Amino acid sequence: MINKSEISIIGGSGHVGFPLGLVFSSSGFKVKLIDKNQKNNNLINSGVNPYLEEGSKKLLAKMLKLKRIFATKQLEHIKTSKFIIICLGTPIDNKLKPKIKDFLNFFHLLKKYINRDQIIIIRSSVYPGISEKVYKIIKNKNENLSYCPERIVQGKSLIELPKISQLIAGKNNKAINESANLFKKICKKIIKVSIIEAELVKLFSNAYRYVHFAISNQFFMICKNNNLNFFKIRDIMKDGYHRNAHIPLSGFTAGPCLLKDTMQLSSFFNNNFSLGHAAMKINQEMPEFIIKNLSKKIDLKGKTIGLLGLSFKGESDDIRDSLSIKLLKYLKRKKIKTFYSDEFYKMSGNLKKKDLIKKSNIIIICAPHKAYKKLHIPKDKIIIDVWGLRSKKI
Ligand SMILES: NC(=O)c1ccc[n+]([C@@H]2O[C@H](COP(=O)([O-])OP(=O)(O)OC[C@H]3O[C@@H](n4cnc5c(N)ncnc54)[C@H](O)[C@@H]3O)[C@@H](O)[C@H]2O)c1
Repeated sequence: MINKSEISIIGGSGHVGFPLGLVFSSSGFKVKLIDKNQKNNNLINSGVNPYLEEGSKKLLAKMLKLKRIFATKQLEHIKTSKFIIICLGTPIDNKLKPKIKDFLNFFHLLKKYINRDQIIIIRSSVYPGISEKVYKIIKNKNENLSYCPERIVQGKSLIELPKISQLIAGKNNKAINESANLFKKICKKIIKVSIIEAELVKLFSNAYRYVHFAISNQFFMICKNNNLNFFKIRDIMKDGYHRNAHIPLSGFTAGPCLLKDTMQLSSFFNNNFSLGHAAMKINQEMPEFIIKNLSKKIDLKGKTIGLLGLSFKGESDDIRDSLSIKLLKYLKRKKIKTFYSDEFYKMSGNLKKKDLIKKSNIIIICAPHKAYKKLHIPKDKIIIDVWGLRSKKI
């Protein structure tokens, strides 16, 4: 028997699935988070957030108390849910090609448990055309397939979901209308588009941001090579000149989405997305550039380097594809003594930030955690502030 107010989220203990589940449960739905990661399922069921997610702690406690949410690895639980939302990862391989096989294989498995009345919603960021391939796999069991991509910025789902527009695409009117009615409960604006449009809007958005950040990273490199302060020049560019208002700060542009989706797009364009490739080269080279540039100015032999921040962005505990980790590995290969510290992600060897400062000659601010903004760093230390976190505004 199908329950119209029940949602199953596959990949439900993940960065996208978990907060989405919380938002739906707080809108009155019964939510089942289906995930093969039993460790995270257990954390969620005991009221502990598996990741940093603004505003989620109290909400999780409340939803668990109301019995509106629980996490499990048993896929058969989906049988009673009206809506099944797929939030599985869509990684690329080490040749930067989309790993489509695992994602598609999952639907062969899913097929065993679905029926024709359910609405199946893909929410992952997918290689264009994947939704059509999924449809072919499941259509003899269920034709109500939608594609409704997630567009939040990680860690801010609860704040952003009600504010941003939701794209709705589907294979038939039932899928489109029922998905639109579902998302209307948690989103402000619904935009109905075709499936390929929705797939491309998502990839274009991430590739656009990735390229955008690369420009500032390249400007940062130009400034560093000439002993100039990019952040000061950026401020001057914007001062009283609105056309430059949106130039981003430089930084370790990374994380699980931007590079991956730029490469998915490139693969879709027969690897001819030259702007995307240039951005990847610039962004990925930042850690190496910083050390090479530093070694032109000072002899790194016998020096110790301290990395402040390991996560891929500020106020986050996520180190997936983090360039801080890439830098750490690079310094290890170069046999340069390196310490590291992070406010949110704790790995063995992690120092307290004040101890790291004491022990290091050179401090690199690798993640822009707020705690580093006003942190006292003695004048005799060399600071590399990749994100301009401590730069004074003009
Ligand atoms: N992280 C973001 O901010 C963000 C934003 C927008 C879109 N996306 C996209 O959303 C998708 C998911 O990203 P994510 O960051 O949540 O990934 P994630 O790795 O955090 O979550 C995926 C979850 O799926 C689970 N899983 C994998 N295989 C499974 C299976 N066979 N059965 C059940 N569970 C399984 C994993 O255990 C994991 O918990 C990706 O396509 C990503 O590009 C992510």
